[in-house]
Amino acid sequence: MSEVSQAIAWHDPFFFVTYVNESVSNFQIDLVNYTKEILEHLIIGCFLYIVLCIFLYFAVIRWRVLKFNKVVRNSKRVLIVTAHPDDECMFFGPTILNLTKEENTKVYLVCLSSGRNYGMGRVRTEELYNSCKVLGIDDSNIVIISHEDLPDDIHIRWPEETVAEIILRYIETYDITTLITFDRTGISSHPNHYSIYYAVAHLSVGKEIPKGCKVYVLESINIFRKYWFILDIPLSFLLSRTRYIVGHHDRTTIHQAMAQHKSQLLWFRKIYLIFSRYIVINTLQEMNTSDIELDLSIDD
Ligand SMILES: *[C@@H]1O[C@H](CO)[C@@H](O)[C@H](O)[C@H]1NC(C)=O
Ligand SMILES: *[C@@H]1O[C@H](CO)[C@@H](O)[C@H](O)[C@H]1NC(C)=O
Repeated sequence: MSEVSQAIAWHDPFFFVTYVNESVSNFQIDLVNYTKEILEHLIIGCFLYIVLCIFLYFAVIRWRVLKFNKVVRNSKRVLIVTAHPDDECMFFGPTILNLTKEENTKVYLVCLSSGRNYGMGRVRTEELYNSCKVLGIDDSNIVIISHEDLPDDIHIRWPEETVAEIILRYIETYDITTLITFDRTGISSHPNHYSIYYAVAHLSVGKEIPKGCKVYVLESINIFRKYWFILDIPLSFLLSRTRYIVGHHDRTTIHQAMAQHKSQLLWFRKIYLIFSRYIVINTLQEMNTSDIELDLSIDD
């Protein structure tokens, strides 16, 4: 008790006790009621949001009354550039499946490392071919680069000139009309991933990419949205202009493709596959020269 309340208690102990007890209990009751109310609202809100997402999913996939997909332009010959064997299923699945099923589209894949630096080159190369077979990319359209400056390593940023040179070579070889790769965050901030973005950005700013070739990057999203599965439908729909979603059947295909990467199927990747939003939804952004110039100036 403080000195003041001791003094009051001394003069009128009965009044003090009643007064304090009453105000404390009133306050407690208010607090409990208030917390209960907030919790109730939160739970109802979450419930409604989940119902809304399930409803939207069905509206898009089953009933087909809502159009979610907005595809890339110029998709005659599409080149997907990834960093590691398994990126194509872990991140680009919904996009690849839509494109490989389109009649007038040819899909090419350049994977910039093979895991050779772990002594896994042969195994992972084979796994990549098997996975692409499941996704519908022809063997003859797959290129796996094994370059000593481009090791599979989470601590190493690849030299942009080397990456740019390789990418440009295949854009020209295959006469690519649309290039798709990682964005500046590279999904998981993996330097191997975002060095591809910076390489392409340099090419783009230097006007080295042929005029007819559009460049799209796969949008990275924050860690909360990343594991939201179909709960990310509203946000993806509202925030992105180019987007792909897949239904149950295609999702199973992506899981089967990932199952080909046997050497990579550790427990945390299995969990990733269950909850990941990238297994159901991809959103892409067309590369914009003015944005890139800003990125490159920050990067330098
Ligand atoms: C790809 O998405 C577009 C846009 O919604 C759709 O019209 C097309 O049918 C999809 N392609 C396949 C093969 O699912
Ligand atoms: C590129 O970005 C700028 C500024 O963000 C915008 O004004 C412009 O319309 C964009 N261009 C394209 C082609 O999206």
